Amino acid sequence: MKPVGIAAKRIVTGDPARCSAENPLGVIEDGVVIYDEEGIRSVGPRASAGDVPVVDHGDRVVTAGLVDAHTHAAWVGSRHDEYAMRMAGADYRAIAAAGGGILSSFRAVAAASEDEITETLVARLRRMAALGVTSCEVKSGYGLEPEGERKQLRAIRRARTSFGVPTIVATYLALHALPESARANREAYVERAASVLVPEIARERLAEFVDAYVDQNAFTIAEARAVCEAARKAGLGVRLHIGQFADIGGAKLCAEIGARSADHVEHIDAEGIALLAKHDVAAVLLPVASFTLGQTPPPVAALREAGVMMVVASDANPGTAPSESLPLAMAMAVRLYGMTPAEVLLGATRHAATSLGLWGEGIAKPRGALVAGAAADLVVWDLPHENALVQPWGGARTWVVVRDGVQIAGN
Ligand code: NIG
Ligand code: FE
Repeated sequence: MKPVGIAAKRIVTGDPARCSAENPLGVIEDGVVIYDEEGIRSVGPRASAGDVPVVDHGDRVVTAGLVDAHTHAAWVGSRHDEYAMRMAGADYRAIAAAGGGILSSFRAVAAASEDEITETLVARLRRMAALGVTSCEVKSGYGLEPEGERKQLRAIRRARTSFGVPTIVATYLALHALPESARANREAYVERAASVLVPEIARERLAEFVDAYVDQNAFTIAEARAVCEAARKAGLGVRLHIGQFADIGGAKLCAEIGARSADHVEHIDAEGIALLAKHDVAAVLLPVASFTLGQTPPPVAALREAGVMMVVASDANPGTAPSESLPLAMAMAVRLYGMTPAEVLLGATRHAATSLGLWGEGIAKPRGALVAGAAADLVVWDLPHENALVQPWGGARTWVVVRDGVQIAGN
């Protein structure tokens, strides 16, 4: 493929070298991005294209491809009955304790073949790509039993090579809920995850990260620590669900273990926030989940003040965030969480990529910003300004979606 160019009125680079207080997103007006399948060759004013063929998108906006840093996208089945019960007043955790919630998705995953999970996931990821997502984290965590977790992770691996899906980062969600078989001996369940499954999954390169659901009525700090330590020993990164319902000290564990991200954090105290800031743990904020659960927002102002890197993600899952839309999460982050449009755009591109190890020092072909040498992941939006992107459209406003130099969605 010979290099080609995409020009538009606003090229929202997100390039740290171009970002400043006056221009927080590093916007180039009347700019062009030159790229091929190997990556971005250059980003600059329209005139810099020289004799490279350029498609001019006029008044539209170009951003880096969106990066969804927290999804449970490898689910099958539907929990619409449970949703209706919850809206009628039933409590999420009470439903879970009665065998619904995550256990309901566990049964659906257990009954599905690897092929079925792969097909459902690929279709879902293509819909996400159509919304502008070019990189996506996908967790297991509905398999619960070793064979089920392996099945989900293999399906995630198979989805990677399908056409039209985002770049996938896989996470082994080692501790999500206790399956029936482990009720009598949760210690053995945790121990097997830490000493057998984490090393095996690392060896077979089935995941890049390990996650655990650290909360009241979920898993304790000590239990999560066991799988986190195993992850670090096996060379895997850690990201943790913490403080969704209660602060049981998850931030301290994130800091101690060197987690890349602390996700949810509706409940976190000042000490926890300071620890995230000090240890460069990103806060992955999930407004669709707090909207669905009717929760108060995380302490965004305090996170901002402390200098914690904020990421916005969809949390796509059939229970707390039945949506596949990162743009919807972005709109909610502005409306419900009080984040600025610039914070949200960085939180769904470069900062999200940083939390996934896709952007940062020494990464050969980074993703998450429009800069020479990065992967050619970009979106042309059928919108006149980047701030229009964080409104709750409820539908795709993408015009062209490019991943690794190839158009994967759009017109
Ligand atoms: O991120 N809280 C734990 N995990 C998910 C919900 C999973 C589910 O309900 O299926 C979350 O909100
Ligand atoms: Fe989640």
